[in-house]
Amino acid sequence: MTLALSKGRILEDTLPMLSAAGLTPEEDPLSSRKLVFATNDPGLRLLVIRASDVPTFVAYGAADVGVAGKDVLVEHGGRDLYEPLDLGIARCRMMVAGLPGALDGPASRPLRVATKYVETARAHFARVGRQVEIIKLYGSMELAPIVGLADVIVDLVDTGNTLRANGLEAFTEIDTISSRLVVNKASMKMKHAAIRRLLDTFATATGGGH
Ligand code: ADP
Ligand code: PRP
Ligand code: MG
Repeated sequence: MTLALSKGRILEDTLPMLSAAGLTPEEDPLSSRKLVFATNDPGLRLLVIRASDVPTFVAYGAADVGVAGKDVLVEHGGRDLYEPLDLGIARCRMMVAGLPGALDGPASRPLRVATKYVETARAHFARVGRQVEIIKLYGSMELAPIVGLADVIVDLVDTGNTLRANGLEAFTEIDTISSRLVVNKASMKMKHAAIRRLLDTFATATGGGH
């Protein structure tokens, strides 16, 4: 059984859940340069990969199970994946933000939206009926309105510190985000018992059932 973990913020919250379940990686993934980790369970290995790549590894069956943020799952489209459990970690909100007043006034031209979340942004503005031009960025979205690259951004907000530090305001909540367990559809059938055990382990660690 192969479990794909998102490195970064999600990894920091996932490792304590594994450890609470008695699962120990051979080395500490937070400090090691390894990408594949055996664990004290001979039937379980861990992959540590870029958060946005987790749905791809699981959808293709390179990992049976993965931990991924809902933001990343929405962008991926969730094809070929089951999403049986909300882990409740790495919580934040997907929001439209910008300099004060950026959404006001008549729409004489399409609103320019800078974001890493192109599909999320496209779907949101289609839903509210606003014409947009989307500018794909890979990080530091908050910079875009300040330097006139875009009118607004679509990005994650947790404490609001990054918005505040850059003089931006949150306008609209698009979605609430947390990390989910995702399972490859074929693995769910072929390795049902082992996956069920892993699901129960995580469900107990989150304090909920499923
Ligand atoms: P990346 O390099 O892809 O931004 P991160 O570790 O920052 O990697 O983010 C990984 C995941 O953690 C995101 O997909 C999202 O689900 C969640 N996340 C990102 N930023 C925050 C935040 N500020 N607070 C809480 N969760 C966050
Ligand atoms: C995330 C997100 C925001 C910030 C929000 O960025 O893209 O910029 O966190 O959190 P806050 O509301 O608590 O300030 P991150 O720190 O992950 O930077 P990166 O993804 O651009 O590396
Ligand atoms: Mg980030």
